[in-house]
Amino acid sequence: MDLTQQMNRNLKHVSASPILSFSDLANSIPGSVKFTLGEPDFNTPEHIKQAAVASIQANHSHYAPSNGTPGLKSAISQFLANKYDQHYDPDQIIVTCGATEAIYTTVTSVLNPGDKVIVPTPTFPMYMATVAVAGGEVVPVNTAANNFKLSPDLLQSALQQAGDRVKLLILNYPGNPTGVTYTQAELDALADVLRDRPIFVMCDEIYSELVYNDPQKHPSLAHSLPEQTIVINGVSKSHAMTGWRIGFMCACPAIIQELGKIHQFTITSAATMTQDAAEAALKDGPDDALPMRAEYQERRDFIIQQLADMDFQCAQPDGAFYVFAKIPADLNQNDDEFAHDLLKANKVALIPGSYFGPGGAGYLRLSYATSMAEIEHGMQLMHEYVQNQRNQN
Ligand SMILES: Cc1ncc(COP(=O)(O)O)c(C=O)c1O
Repeated sequence: MDLTQQMNRNLKHVSASPILSFSDLANSIPGSVKFTLGEPDFNTPEHIKQAAVASIQANHSHYAPSNGTPGLKSAISQFLANKYDQHYDPDQIIVTCGATEAIYTTVTSVLNPGDKVIVPTPTFPMYMATVAVAGGEVVPVNTAANNFKLSPDLLQSALQQAGDRVKLLILNYPGNPTGVTYTQAELDALADVLRDRPIFVMCDEIYSELVYNDPQKHPSLAHSLPEQTIVINGVSKSHAMTGWRIGFMCACPAIIQELGKIHQFTITSAATMTQDAAEAALKDGPDDALPMRAEYQERRDFIIQQLADMDFQCAQPDGAFYVFAKIPADLNQNDDEFAHDLLKANKVALIPGSYFGPGGAGYLRLSYATSMAEIEHGMQLMHEYVQNQRNQN
């Protein structure tokens, strides 16, 4: 008897992440230089760790209120207002188990089976999987020809083609895998298309502290379309706290109340002591990301220069810690084969762009959340590989 046949049939539309399989392959090759991981290589700042220790010592080991501790929700509210001019009262905020749970809770709260979700691609593959679990259908919008940004025209034509079952648009800025972000004017123009339609927008702003072009100006659709927008953020990337699993989501009170139902019955509440740590992160270390951001920027500039020397062109990498590089025309255009061959021949691991959906073929994603010494070594090996390929042509 094959009991898997009796399981939720939506799971048939969810496949194992090719990114993880590729990363596993890279991990199995001793000495490989990895540009694969999407997580900070920095350790969590000391004052945050001390806050967690104090929380444990004070026996904060009981359930927290489901939507989050009052202290953390108030710290989030202050942080968003001071940093990004986003105004959410604490009761408009739910603390989640990483941004991941916020994504899951939002998607499953909003969708009925058969509803459609517009997703600009290439994109973070988790969105596709979560929509599939909820029985929804992704409408991918290939943004490669528009510098990896959704435009009002692209959005209009996706809405027209998809018909009246569109329930949700997912935006992620700065974006994984491209590092591209939007200007406020560009988001305002998208808001104009969406205003007064019965469509939600989930804005994943997890990389908001890692904006390089004009760090004071992290934009948000929440400014132009507050009633329809659910903002997702967290401390994983800003404070190098991926393992602490604290994220949050913000929306108008009526929507937050509904989101709280799935959240409550999925995780009850996020861990109490890591909420205390996140409170210290946002209250006492609102600028903890600055030294990390300066170092990421140095690495990014170095990588872009190195890639340009090899004739790779990158999408405008204004944020996050990724560059999305186009394979030059004289090299193998199959990104999957290119990445596997580079790994086998010269032990450099990059993620094939096609793993991120339509528009990603012919590109490679490099994460620079790794030390400068590793980056220098990896770029040297990649130069050698590219030179060898060119000599053989
Ligand atoms: C765009 C994006 N959203 C969400 C996440 C997950 O964040 P968290 O670790 O807080 O769950 C990631 C992690 O890589 C990401 O790249």
